[in-house]
Amino acid sequence: MTAANSSLPRATRRIPQDAGLPFFGYLFEFMKDPLAFAQMLERRNGLIVRTPMVGRDSVVMLGPEAAQFVLQDRDENFSSHGGWDYFIGKVFPGSIMATDAPAHRFQRRIMQQAFKKPALTAYIEAMNPRIAEGLDGWEPRPDFPVFQSIKQLTLDLATAIFLGEEIGPDAARMNQAFIDTVDAALAYIRAPIPPFNMWKGMKGRKLLEDYFYSLLPKKRATQTADFFSQFCHATDEDGGRFSDKEVVDHMIFLLMAAHDTTTSTLTTMFYALARHPEWQERLRRDSLDFGKAQLDFDDLEKMESLEWVMKEALRMYPPLTSMPRRTVKDCVFNGYLLKKDTLVGIYPIHTHYMPEYWTQPYQFDPERFSPSRAEHKKHMFQWIPFGGGAHMCLGQHFANLQVKAVMHQILQHYRWSIPEGYEMPYQHVPIAKPKDGLPVRLERI
Ligand code: HEM
Repeated sequence: MTAANSSLPRATRRIPQDAGLPFFGYLFEFMKDPLAFAQMLERRNGLIVRTPMVGRDSVVMLGPEAAQFVLQDRDENFSSHGGWDYFIGKVFPGSIMATDAPAHRFQRRIMQQAFKKPALTAYIEAMNPRIAEGLDGWEPRPDFPVFQSIKQLTLDLATAIFLGEEIGPDAARMNQAFIDTVDAALAYIRAPIPPFNMWKGMKGRKLLEDYFYSLLPKKRATQTADFFSQFCHATDEDGGRFSDKEVVDHMIFLLMAAHDTTTSTLTTMFYALARHPEWQERLRRDSLDFGKAQLDFDDLEKMESLEWVMKEALRMYPPLTSMPRRTVKDCVFNGYLLKKDTLVGIYPIHTHYMPEYWTQPYQFDPERFSPSRAEHKKHMFQWIPFGGGAHMCLGQHFANLQVKAVMHQILQHYRWSIPEGYEMPYQHVPIAKPKDGLPVRLERI
C-alpha cells in the first residue's frame, strides 16, 4: 500500500461482481434501457457493483450518496477526462466536460462570463421573435413530428444565439455533422473506418471546425451578443482568455451540449403533456392569463407550474441517463475500495426512480416539486439531471430560459394529443430521444 493510501478509511467490504456476457457484459441491456439495467443490478447486487463492459472493468454506483461522493468529489479522487474521453475525446477534443482541474477551473471561469444575467437577458430577447417565427411555420396535422420540429427550432435558435450568424444553405449539412459527431460517442467500432459511426463523426467534426475557424477573424474583430463572440472576448479575473483552438473546441461542444439536451427536454415535456391533458390545459391557462405573448428574463421564475413540469420531465426522462468518471487514486466509499484507474458510472435515471426518495416514481406528478411537497429536497443529489459538483451543467439557467420561452409560446397557439394507449418508443443513449419522432395530433387554437 502507498503512503497516500495509509490515510484512507479501512475497506471492509468487497464490491459484488455481476459480469453478464463474456466481453460485452450488459452492454445491450444498458443501451436498451439504462433504468431497467441499473434496477436489475441493484436488485441482484445492491447499490454498488462491478460489471465489466466491452472488456473494460467498471463499477456502477447507484443512489444519491454515491452520486454525491463521485460528483462532488471533495478528495479529488475522480477524473472527468478519464471517464468521458473514451466516448467523446475523438469528436469533442478539448471539451470542458472532459477537462480536469486545474485547467478545468481556468476554462470554466472564462466560460462562465457567457452565462451571467446580462448575457442571459440578451439571449432571451434575441430568442423570442425567432421562436415566434419558427412556430408560425408549424402546420397542424394528425401526425405532426414533434422531435424533428423541435430540433429544427432549437437549431435555428442555436445559430442565432450561439453563433450570431445565419448558416444559410449549409444548415442541413451542419445539422447532419452534429448528429454524426454525437452518434460517434457510442460507436461500437472506435477507429475511424468508413462507413462506420466514428468515421462519420470525425468527418462531421472536421466540417464544423472548418466552419468555426472561417468565422473566427470576424468574431474576434467585433463584439456581439452571442456565445461565439463572448468566448472570443471573455477574460477571467487575471486577464486570461481563450486561444483560437479553445474557442472553436468550446463552441462545438457547447452547441452539442445545449442543442440535443434542450430538444430532448422539450420533446419529453410534449409527450408528458399529451398524456396528461389536464396539465397541458393548466399550463395553457397560466400562459394565456399571464398576458404577455413572450417571456422576459424576470418572468421566468413566475411560471411556477411550467417549472414543475420541466423538472418532472427531467426527472422521468433525464437527457443524460448516466455519467462516467475514472478514479485517479485508490479511495474508499462506504467501506468499498475503489482501486486507482477504475471506471465508474453514475446513473441519474436510477436515482430519479428510487422509491426511497419519490412517491410513486412512475407517476407523472409535477406537484412533487411544489414548495408544500418539495419531494426533491430529501437529498441534495436525488434530482441530478444537470449533474453536480465542479462539472455541474453550466447551461442549466440557459436551458430553463429556452425551454420556458419556447413552451410559453407553443401553449398559446397550439393544442396537441396522442392516440389512447400510445407509448413513446424511446432511445436512451447517447442522449435520450423518441425512436418514432413522437407524432402527435396538432391543432391551432
Ligand atoms: C435540459 C438541458 C440540459 C441538461 C439535462 C444538461 C445536462 C448536463 C450534465 C448532466 C452535465 C454534467 C456532465 C458530467 O458531470 O459528467 C452537463 C455539463 C455541461 N453542460 Fe449541460 N445540460 C443541459 C443543457 C445545457 C445547455 C443549454 C448548455 C449551454 C448553453 C449546456 C452546457 C454544458 C456545459 C458547458 C457543461 C460542462 C460543464 C463543465 O464540465 O464544467 N448544457 N450538462
